Amino acid sequence: MNRVAPVSRTPAVWLSAALLVFVSSFACADAPAPAARPGHAAIASANFHATEAGLEVLAKGGNAFDAAIAVASTLSVVEPESSGIGGGFMAVLHRADGREVFLDARETAPAAVDPKDYLDKNGEPNRDTALNGPLSAGIPGEPAGLAWLAAHYGKLPLSASLAPAIRIARDGFELDGRLADAIAGREQDIRRWPASVAKYLPDGKVPTKGQHWRDPDQARTLELLGAHGFDGFYRGEVAGKLVDAVHAAGGNWTAKDLAGYQVKERAPIVVDYRGYRVVTAPPSSSGGVALAEILNILSGYDLGKLDEAHRTHLVIEAMRRAFRDHNDYLGDPDFVKMPLDMLLSPYYAAGLRQTILPDKATPSSMLPVSTGTDPGMHTTHFSVIDKDGNIASITLTVNYTMGSTFVAAGTGVLLNDEMDDFALVPNKPNVYGLLGSVANAPAPGKRMLSSMTPSIVFGADRVGVIGSPGGSTIITQVLEGVLAFIDGKDAAGIVGQKRYHHQYMPDRVDVEPGAFDPATADALTRMGHTLKERSPWGYMNVVTWDLKTNRLDAASDPRRESGLGKVQ
Ligand code: DON
Repeated sequence: MNRVAPVSRTPAVWLSAALLVFVSSFACADAPAPAARPGHAAIASANFHATEAGLEVLAKGGNAFDAAIAVASTLSVVEPESSGIGGGFMAVLHRADGREVFLDARETAPAAVDPKDYLDKNGEPNRDTALNGPLSAGIPGEPAGLAWLAAHYGKLPLSASLAPAIRIARDGFELDGRLADAIAGREQDIRRWPASVAKYLPDGKVPTKGQHWRDPDQARTLELLGAHGFDGFYRGEVAGKLVDAVHAAGGNWTAKDLAGYQVKERAPIVVDYRGYRVVTAPPSSSGGVALAEILNILSGYDLGKLDEAHRTHLVIEAMRRAFRDHNDYLGDPDFVKMPLDMLLSPYYAAGLRQTILPDKATPSSMLPVSTGTDPGMHTTHFSVIDKDGNIASITLTVNYTMGSTFVAAGTGVLLNDEMDDFALVPNKPNVYGLLGSVANAPAPGKRMLSSMTPSIVFGADRVGVIGSPGGSTIITQVLEGVLAFIDGKDAAGIVGQKRYHHQYMPDRVDVEPGAFDPATADALTRMGHTLKERSPWGYMNVVTWDLKTNRLDAASDPRRESGLGKVQ
């Protein structure tokens, strides 16, 4: 019989178990290539302009990675509330020859980062400097990441893959309702910065859905990036304008911070779950570690034999335990030592499984307490498979809706507010209710921990490319996507499925309305779970590949008005 045991916060017990049998879930970067090539391509993204831009670049002879550059740069223009060249991204790439790599184009803290800037005069967290204006912005990683993709993985020059975004920025497009709503929601913050007003409040007014929208400054910045690669953004004219604008508004970036930015290639985390190979994000994301931990815990159960309430209960308990570790251990791997062998070990998961009762919730109050706030859904994920079987799974962000709301004058670049993803004040929750320890404390040049979990799932017969925005809920939404894929759902079924989330603290299950029928909700409540309805969820963009028939399938989240999944 299972019993509830207090879950130790110290790694010692697990570490000794892990040392006895050393198991590493880090794969070597080379994996077997699927035997087939699809012969055609598919892209799913949160905006139809971006999906079409990717398909345009494929038609010009580009591969999945060139298409990814086109999609990402177009999203920077048409969906700036979610991601952009003032932000960063994380990518899991699978090349048709089997090489797999994780590309970490996450933002970094500037050298002059000062934790005191994120405290008010009473020593309490200053949510304003963490979330608004230039102090909230990390050194962007996306432009460097796009240049890296072109140089190392693409077939076309960077300028060719950026061409659709530059054209759309210059000629204009019709603004969608979601961007109009995002600007309206952040109007008061946007009004604090003159260049942001000029860009997002033309004539001083919040724009409306359908309004024709042009972005000539960003077109020029993208053009310089295309012409000069890394140097076009991180040195010279654009870099000078970024540093000047940030300084004029009280920030502390230097030319050296920009010129010194580095993309990192890392080995992805690979976890085997029920015969499927899940390739996902390592630190500086917490997503893959948490996903692997949850899947390892769940692998000990025959979920298919359980009713929905008991199955869901076990998934929630696995989420709860993975998020506890997220808070305690994880940070930038270039700065902190993490017990990854322990966290990723099946033996560690087996130990955690022993602490789960089959029909009773474990109170999270055994461990540190925090309160969470509801995240918005303002990050973006897209998925690409090309005709040769190259695959890109990429999640991009400026963090909170419209990032810092700060546009650097003359560049069209909206800066992120990713500094809030650091544990700026230890054990005080960030905007997603996530706690952090010293492992995720800010330091010069350090990457702030992310939840982004771009993933690729390989089965004997099918491949799924899955990811989502959603702050801390990214991890659980991707988990549910992976489980749905393994259960045989198609792309539309995966993105359309209702979602739920538990992140250890606060001790509650966030539930999308309609996720559980009344009997299941009642059974979960009787087991001791507190259910709380929450919106919004999503927006997931999924591509699947049936290896037997070579059929590709692409679907964009139905919760999103402008998304498009398309097979070409
Ligand atoms: O990197 C992260 O984990 C966050 N900056 C992601 C933010 C996000 O997903 C916002 N909304 N959905």
